[in-house]
Amino acid sequence: MHKKIALIRGDGIGPEIVSSAVRVLDKIASVFNHDFTFVEAPMGGNAIDTFGEPLPQSTIDTCLSSDAVLLGAVGGKKWDSLPGVLRPESGLLGIRKAMKVYSNIRPAVLYPSLKNRSPLRDDIAEKGFDLVIVRELTGGIYFGERGYRKGKFGREAFDTECYSEIEIERIVRSAFEIALTRSGKVTSIDKANVLESSRLWRYVFHEVAQDYPNVSTEDMLVDNAAMQLAKNPAQFDVIVTSNMFGDILSDLSSALTGSIGLLPSASLGDSTVGIYEPVHGSAPDLSPNTANPLGTILSAAMMLQYSFDMVSEADSVKSAVQQTLNRGFRTADIFSDGNILCSTSDITDKILQFIK
Ligand code: IPM
Ligand code: MG
Repeated sequence: MHKKIALIRGDGIGPEIVSSAVRVLDKIASVFNHDFTFVEAPMGGNAIDTFGEPLPQSTIDTCLSSDAVLLGAVGGKKWDSLPGVLRPESGLLGIRKAMKVYSNIRPAVLYPSLKNRSPLRDDIAEKGFDLVIVRELTGGIYFGERGYRKGKFGREAFDTECYSEIEIERIVRSAFEIALTRSGKVTSIDKANVLESSRLWRYVFHEVAQDYPNVSTEDMLVDNAAMQLAKNPAQFDVIVTSNMFGDILSDLSSALTGSIGLLPSASLGDSTVGIYEPVHGSAPDLSPNTANPLGTILSAAMMLQYSFDMVSEADSVKSAVQQTLNRGFRTADIFSDGNILCSTSDITDKILQFIK
């Protein structure tokens, strides 16, 4: 099968981890007889330096005309003092919006071989967990009305959380569809004791639930959810939540797996064209060739599965990652005594060997 993949390498460790994932995709193409072509799509700080803007129109066009987008990470100190719309992060929000990828799927699994790296107490880590956060990605406070104004006590700044029924319905529906392929439970996380937008969220969640009689449902307030994730993450299966709550809770969940470097994500809308990126950021302070590429490689596996319907190919990548970890090969962020310390490129070499 032929597929065109846009590469947004980004800043910091972005280019290194994307290169690792491209090597994995090339290996998959040769083993399974596919033809993947890659096109460059500059975005973030590097695009600001070259084009004077974080998200050039040509990048949007390249992404929209591809079968999927693989993204590393954007941002860095160099661009931190730019005004909001010119920051690398606004390129990221812009491409998500332009591609209408409202559903951000972030699985978090505590692998048995990494239990000792989890900050959880032994008896909690022992139970393991396998959850998926379905985060709304193109609405809410990230995209609401915002600005500065002169208030009673001087300058004020504001951001607005606003959700329409349609936005809630479609993200909730994607969570229910995912639950049907798993154990069949969805926890909707909100702040309905305070926020009007959360009350509408909760109402729509239960309306949609009526179409899924075999999926069990639960509402949880976000503050309690943070506590429950730390105390008993095994209770969760599918979590559905707003853009900002999902951002925060997915970092928490990833830390519980041992390292944020491990977590992949898929962002999808109504078509199969998605954006695949690790949950972590651009980590500009890491030394060259030390970053953990597994989150990006597992994002490529999600691309194979969700955008290309290549399930065996995706399984082959996931199993190669498992075998690499099981044999004790580790980058610095997940290294413990007795492991074999690997650079970014070393661990990628190991994964390639396990793809057959
Ligand atoms: C993420 C990141 C981004 C977000 C930032 C970099 C804008 O934290 O993908 O989780 O908040 O969505
Ligand atoms: Mg985040």
